[in-house]
Order: sequence, then structure tokens, then C-alpha cells
Amino acid sequence: MSDDTMPDDPDKTTRRDFMTLTASGMIAVGAACAAWPLVDSLNPSADVLALSSIEVDIGHVEPGQTMTVKWRGKPVFITHRTEAQIQEAVDTPLKDLIDPEEDSARVKDGHSKWLVTIGICTHLGCVPLSNKGDYDGWFCPCHGSHYDTSGRIRKGPAPLNLAVPPYEFISDTKIKIG
Ligand code: FES
Repeated sequence: MSDDTMPDDPDKTTRRDFMTLTASGMIAVGAACAAWPLVDSLNPSADVLALSSIEVDIGHVEPGQTMTVKWRGKPVFITHRTEAQIQEAVDTPLKDLIDPEEDSARVKDGHSKWLVTIGICTHLGCVPLSNKGDYDGWFCPCHGSHYDTSGRIRKGPAPLNLAVPPYEFISDTKIKIG
């Protein structure tokens, strides 16, 4: 008869239990060690987390200037509009627009001097040039799309306005994108 079927001698039981416990413990630790890299690899990397939202200090951007930052791998234009540029955008009748959208719908209440847009042409994805084109906004040299001071498409093959990313003002001089 094997040990397992014999009535247990207390000494043997203790030794066998110890061996069993030790072995289970080692297996559990081994499984945890093997699982950690897997679980860890399922979490977004620190890089991705860092870029999913970014805070940008905009205090130094002068009126008429556009600052470009990178967010989720895309360029984002942060434009400090002059009074004239705002007025031009506000005064444009919706009927003149290819993708009609009020300027007020593209900026944050109380912060209309700031326009934040994704810097990718809605035609085939080139990066348009700031302060260029027939409408004082952006010009995409790839196929000649012109955007106005609200980032709205006015002329050329692009079908849509420059997209506005999700963002909020944290203070008067700082925004959080994403
Ligand atoms: Fe901008 Fe074609 S990609 S006009």
C-alpha cells in the first residue's frame, strides 16, 4: 500500500503537508510572476497615458500667432485670434460656408479669442499652413484648400472644417486637450 492509503503518521502528514503547501505556494508565485508582464502589457503604456490628454500653457502666444502642439500623434493648432480675425469669422454669413457652422460653436464661451483645431486638412490629411490663404486662416498647399479665421473650409477640395478637439480651459492661460 502506498503512503497515501495508510493511516497517516503525524510526522509524515506534517512533512507531506509542508511539501504540498510549499509546492502550491511556488506555483502561485510563479503564476503571479508570469501573469504580471501579461497584465502589465494590457495596460496602456505610460507614453500613451501621458499623451491621451495634455496641458498646454498658452500665455505666451501673441495675438495673430498660432502655436502647434502634438496630441495623440496629431498636430493641434492653438490660435490667438485678433479682434479683426474674430470679427471676420463672426460676420461671415452661414450661406457662404461649405460646411456651415457658427464661429461661436467652434470656440469656448468667454474665450472667443482662442481657436483650437486639429491641424489636418480634411481633404487628404496634409498639414495646412497658418496665416495663409484667401481667408486669412489656413492654406493647404497639397491641393489648394483655404480655411478662414474660424478654421472653416471656404475654397478648394476639402469637404469639412478643421476639426475642433475636445479641450477645456483650466485657467485663462492654460488649456487641457483631450
Ligand atoms: Fe489639403 Fe488636399 S490634403 S487640399
